[in-house]
Amino acid sequence: MGSTTNTADPVTITGKVQTEEDRALQEELRQRGPLPVHIAIIMDGNGRWAQQQGKRRVVGHYEGVESVRDITEACVQLGIPYLTLYTFSTENWQRPASEVNALMQLLVKTIRREKTRLLENGVQLRVLGEMAQLPPVCQAELEQAVQETARNDRLVLTLALSYSGRWEILQAVRTLARRVQEGALRPEDIDEATFAAALPGAGLPDPDLLIRTGGEFRVSNFLLWQIAYTELYITDVYWPAFRRRQLYEAIRSYQNRERRFGRIYTSDTNGTE
Ligand code: IPE
Ligand code: IPE
Ligand code: MG
Repeated sequence: MGSTTNTADPVTITGKVQTEEDRALQEELRQRGPLPVHIAIIMDGNGRWAQQQGKRRVVGHYEGVESVRDITEACVQLGIPYLTLYTFSTENWQRPASEVNALMQLLVKTIRREKTRLLENGVQLRVLGEMAQLPPVCQAELEQAVQETARNDRLVLTLALSYSGRWEILQAVRTLARRVQEGALRPEDIDEATFAAALPGAGLPDPDLLIRTGGEFRVSNFLLWQIAYTELYITDVYWPAFRRRQLYEAIRSYQNRERRFGRIYTSDTNGTE
C-alpha cells in the first residue's frame, strides 16, 4: 500500500494519457495565480443531461462517473490536494427506490473498478455522511477502499454520501453537548475551532471554491458550516458534461476573485485616509 504513494512524477498518473495541450493548459493555470487548495463540487444535472437526449436518468449517473474520473485525475495532475464531491444527499433518499438502488449499485461498481487506479494515483478516499444508512455492501466496499487508500497523500477525495450540512452540524452539537455533560468542556470554551474540530468532516480545510453544475442557485444543504467564506461558481453545464476544460474555467474564475474576508484591500483605501 505505502509503496504506491508518491513514487511517480507528479503529473504522471494512471489513466488517459495527458495531451501536450492539456499539460500546457495546466501549466498556464499554475502560472496565473494560486490554485484553490480545496475544491468542493455539487455534481448536479445528471438526470436532465440524460433526459435532454431522450435517455433514462440513470444514464446520466453513469456518464457522471466519467466526469468524476476526469475531474479527479485533473486535480491530481494540477496538485490540488483536496476535492470533495456531493455524491448523495440526505434528501436524495426521498427519490424513487429504483433510482436510489441504481445509484447505490453504481457506487459499489465504481469503487470496485476504480480502487486500483485510486491507489496508483495516490488518491486517499474518504467518506462523509451517515454511512449506517447505506446498504451493507456499499458500506463494506467503501470501508475497504478508505482503509486501503489511507496512506495516499497526493489528493484527498471525500465523497459526501447520505450527507447534509445540517446533519453534520448536529453531530458536532451532540459531541460537544456530551463533553459538557461529562464535565470535560465548559460552554464558554466552545469557539469556532472547537466546533469545527467536532464536525464529522473535521480535518479538511474549508473549501476555497464551491462549484455547482446544473445551473441552480442554491447550496442544497452542502457543507453549511465550511462554506462561510468559500468562493461560489455556478455553471449551467450539467455534471456529465463537466470535464477538465470546464474545471479550468472555474479555476480561472476563482483566480480572478478578490477574497476580502470582510476587510478592505489596499487598492480600495485611496481617498479614505
Ligand atoms: C445529481 O444529478 C446526482 C444526484 C443528486 C445523485 P440529479 O440526479 O439531481 O440530476 P437532475 O438535477 O435531476 O438533472
Ligand atoms: C444536490 O443535488 C445533491 C447532490 C448533488 C448529491 P439535488 O438535485 O439533490 O439538489 P436539489 O434538489 O436541486 O436542491
Ligand atoms: Mg438535481
